[in-house]
Amino acid sequence: MYKITTHPILEIPKSEKVTFQFDGHIIEAKKGFTIAAALHQAGFPVHSHSLRNRKRSLECGIGKCGACEMLVDGQVKRICITLVDEVKEVKEIPHDYRPDIIEYAKNEPIDVYKTQVVIVGAGPAGLAAREILREYGIDNLVVDNNSKIGGQFLMQTHQFFFFEKEKKYGGMRGFDIAQTLAGANHEGIFLNSTVWDILEGGRIAVKEISTDRT
Ligand code: FES
Repeated sequence: MYKITTHPILEIPKSEKVTFQFDGHIIEAKKGFTIAAALHQAGFPVHSHSLRNRKRSLECGIGKCGACEMLVDGQVKRICITLVDEVKEVKEIPHDYRPDIIEYAKNEPIDVYKTQVVIVGAGPAGLAAREILREYGIDNLVVDNNSKIGGQFLMQTHQFFFFEKEKKYGGMRGFDIAQTLAGANHEGIFLNSTVWDILEGGRIAVKEISTDRT
């Protein structure tokens, strides 16, 4: 695998070099790129092994399937969406791996929000639902575990089809549609956050992934 330096649509970021350890090797990468990209470019496309020792690599490549999970500085992360930026060490997850059980302090502060609707996922459907709810003045919050809005729109570098032109988003590129749908005000969109429990009384528990804040 080699790294492209130009792209007809997307800007390739020129960023500083970083390194991390993998399996006794020092891997060089550029800030802003994913661990998966760095490992592939360094010639290490195998990230795990099946119980029968078959080699495994990426599957979806967009953070949805979990096939690329590795131990990143001791935490299980999907390397196809985890940036190399501050990473020190990446390891294959051992077959007998058991995560540490974290005891949460009962009086740990939590943020409480009241809303009428919670939309899980800031992709095409989630953003479209948010737009309609806002038109009708219905309170809503959007929760997405990615660091950017758009979901599958972010993969769409092409312009939407010609026969869609008379419709609202015809002729636009997918990532531009995501921004247009969300509007300038991203208030109420929680990125890097995952829904981890649905509780009685119409409540849900949401965790901010990088800080573990609830
Ligand atoms: S390859 Fe599917 S989540 Fe990374």
